[in-house]
Amino acid sequence: MDIRIQPSILSADFVNFEADFDSISSADGIHVDVMDGHFVPNMTFGPPMVKRMQEISKLPLDVHLMIENSDHWAPVYASLGVFSVTFHFEACADAVATARAIRSMGSRAGIAIKPGTAVSAIESIINEFDQVLVMSVEPGFGGQSFIQSSLDKITEVRALIYLHSPQTWLQVDGGIDESNIAEVSKAGADTFVAGSAVFKSSDRNGQINSLRDLALAAHR
Ligand code: DX5
Ligand code: ZN
Repeated sequence: MDIRIQPSILSADFVNFEADFDSISSADGIHVDVMDGHFVPNMTFGPPMVKRMQEISKLPLDVHLMIENSDHWAPVYASLGVFSVTFHFEACADAVATARAIRSMGSRAGIAIKPGTAVSAIESIINEFDQVLVMSVEPGFGGQSFIQSSLDKITEVRALIYLHSPQTWLQVDGGIDESNIAEVSKAGADTFVAGSAVFKSSDRNGQINSLRDLALAAHR
């Protein structure tokens, strides 16, 4: 089982991305949180900024859209050549058509669910996706605490993946750190977003490696 650690640049220095990208070179990808001030009460990066990140990044970019009208915007981000584009089930009209549009542009497609959204909502469409993202905090801000009930949702999604779509990755985002990554891995996640836990560390690559080791040792 492959384990992936993807630092969220929500906790990076927004005017020094090049240096901050270089400081996390042992990561498996870079998680880019896109927010519109509507779906979540915060705003971050539009397509021109992500385009420039794609030009300078040596690691795959994993774009997490927390924006309304994802059906329109997801293909726009995919067209930048990023590794993956994940949009929210709660913020799209036709999740399957949007997944297909993302994949037709060469990016992997992901579907995200907020803490209040039941796993059953995505059961019939999970096979259209390369990854499922279980949000373990309310989306909008970095540095929040992991919501403990997310563990049951991760177990549920892992069972659905096993049944319907074994190649799909299970990503968890929000409040992941060295105190909880083992239990999140044990519940069935294979792809871990960590913002503050990586960027606050004085040895970011060391922190990424120890998070990966902890997740790997606990994975079932
Ligand atoms: C929250 C974002 C997360 C967040 C993770 O809306 O989607 O990616 O930045 O940051 P930490 O790891 O600090 O919770
Ligand atoms: Zn995110």
